[in-house]
Amino acid sequence: MEKLRIIGGKRLSGTISISGAKNAALPALAACILTDREVKLANVPSVWDIHTMLKLLFHVGAERTIFQGNGVSIKISGIESSDAPYELVKTMRASILVLGPMLARNGHARVSLPGGCAIGERPVNLHIDGLRRLGAKIEIEHGYIEASGDRLKGAEFTFERRTVTGTENLMMAATLADGVTRLVNCAMEPEVVDLATLLISMGAKITGAGSNVIEIEGVTGLNGAVHEIIPDRIEAGTYIMAGVLAGDRIKIDRCNPSHLMALLEKLEENGIEVESGENFVVVSQKDEIRAKDLRTSTYPGFPTDMQAQYMTLMTQAEGESIITETIFERRFMHVGELLRMGADIAIDGHSAIVKGKTPLKGAQVMATDLRASASLVLAGLIAEGETVIDRIYHLHRGYERIDEKLRGLGASVERVK
Ligand code: EPZ
Repeated sequence: MEKLRIIGGKRLSGTISISGAKNAALPALAACILTDREVKLANVPSVWDIHTMLKLLFHVGAERTIFQGNGVSIKISGIESSDAPYELVKTMRASILVLGPMLARNGHARVSLPGGCAIGERPVNLHIDGLRRLGAKIEIEHGYIEASGDRLKGAEFTFERRTVTGTENLMMAATLADGVTRLVNCAMEPEVVDLATLLISMGAKITGAGSNVIEIEGVTGLNGAVHEIIPDRIEAGTYIMAGVLAGDRIKIDRCNPSHLMALLEKLEENGIEVESGENFVVVSQKDEIRAKDLRTSTYPGFPTDMQAQYMTLMTQAEGESIITETIFERRFMHVGELLRMGADIAIDGHSAIVKGKTPLKGAQVMATDLRASASLVLAGLIAEGETVIDRIYHLHRGYERIDEKLRGLGASVERVK
C-alpha cells in the first residue's frame, strides 16, 4: 500500500496552481449522458474519482473519452448499458449522479446503491423521492436502484434537507422532462451553479441555480457544449491552511476567492490576514492564531469539506475551540490520528473540543477519508520529525499531484511503497 512520508518543519514559499473542482467535474461528466452530441470539458482534474467516472461513462456507451492535458471530450451517441455496476459504484459514491441523466435520456436506469462510507451512512432517499415526484417508477432490489419511466413530468419538489448531488441529479433529470420542474430548498454550492451553467450551454432552460429555488423548463433534447470547470475551492482552502501553518509567503493561483468567503472570514477571526485578488490568494504563516469556534453548514456557510483541515489549524491556535460538524454524522475520523501526533482534542457528540497550542510530533498515521487525509498532511508539514501517512489512495481521489505541488513549495513530501 502506498504511503506518504513527510519531514515536518520546512518553510513553504512560492506559487501553487489549483486544479479544476472534482465535485463540479463529476456532475458535468454525468451530464454528458443527456445528449448524443460531443461535450468538451476543460480544467478537469486528473484524480481517481474522475477516472472512475470516465470508466463508468465508457461502460454506459461513451465512444470517446479523450483526456488531453486537463481536457475531456465525451460523446455518447447511444446508451449501450443503463447499468451502473456495484464494482464501479462502491469505489465512488458520486456514481449516483448518473441516475437522473440516465433516466431522462434512456427511460431506464439501474444504479447500485452507493452504500455508506467512513464519514456517514450517506443515504440517497432524497434523490429517489425527487425522481418519483417526476414520475419515475423506482424499486430498490438486491442493493440496486431500478428506475424506469417514459418521459418524466415536470413537478414541484422540496428537499427535506439540502443535498448537493441530490440537487444536481434532479436538475439534470428535469432538463428533459415534460413541463416545468420547481426544486425548493436546493443546495447553493458553486458546483451546482457550474453544472447549471453547463446544462444551459447545452440548451437546457434553468433559472435560480445558486439560490435555494431552481426552476427547470423541460426541452425535448440537448446539444453538445464546450465548458471550463470551476477551480476546486476545497483544494484551494487546503493549501491556504498549509500557508497559514507553514508558509513564508504562498500564492494560491487559479482559484476563485469568491467561493471561499466563509473560510476567509473565519481566518480573519483567527487573526489571519489573507490577501486576495481576482483569481488568487496570498497567505503567510502566523505565530499568533486565535482559537475560534466553528460550525460547518451548507453553502455559503463554512464547508464540511474544510472541517478536518480547520481542526489541524486549531491545534496550533492559542486557546480552546469547539468544532461542530452539522452535515455528516461521522466526520471526526481524523481526531484519533491527530491525537497520536500530540493534539489535545476531545469529542462530545457532534462537536470536538480542541485545546491549543500543542506542538505536534511526527508519527505513523492512517488516512480514512479524503479530507481527513488532508488534515494529516497539514499536521505532518508542521510536526517535529517524520510522519508517514498510510492508505493515501484516499488523497489521490481528490487532490491532483498533492506531493508534487507541496514539493514545489519546498515541503519534504514523498510517496513511498
Ligand atoms: C457532496 O456530497 C460532495 N460530494 C461532498 O464532498 C460534500 O462533503 C457534500 O456534498 C457536502 O454537502 C460531491 O459533490 C461528489 P449531500 P453529497 O447530499 O452530495 C444527507 C468530498 O470530500 N442526505 O449534500 O453526497 C447526507 O447523509 C465529498 O469531496 C440524505 O439524508 O452530500 C448528509 O448528511 C465528501 N439523503 C447531508 O444530507 C439524501 O438523499 C448532505 O449530503 C442525500 C443526502
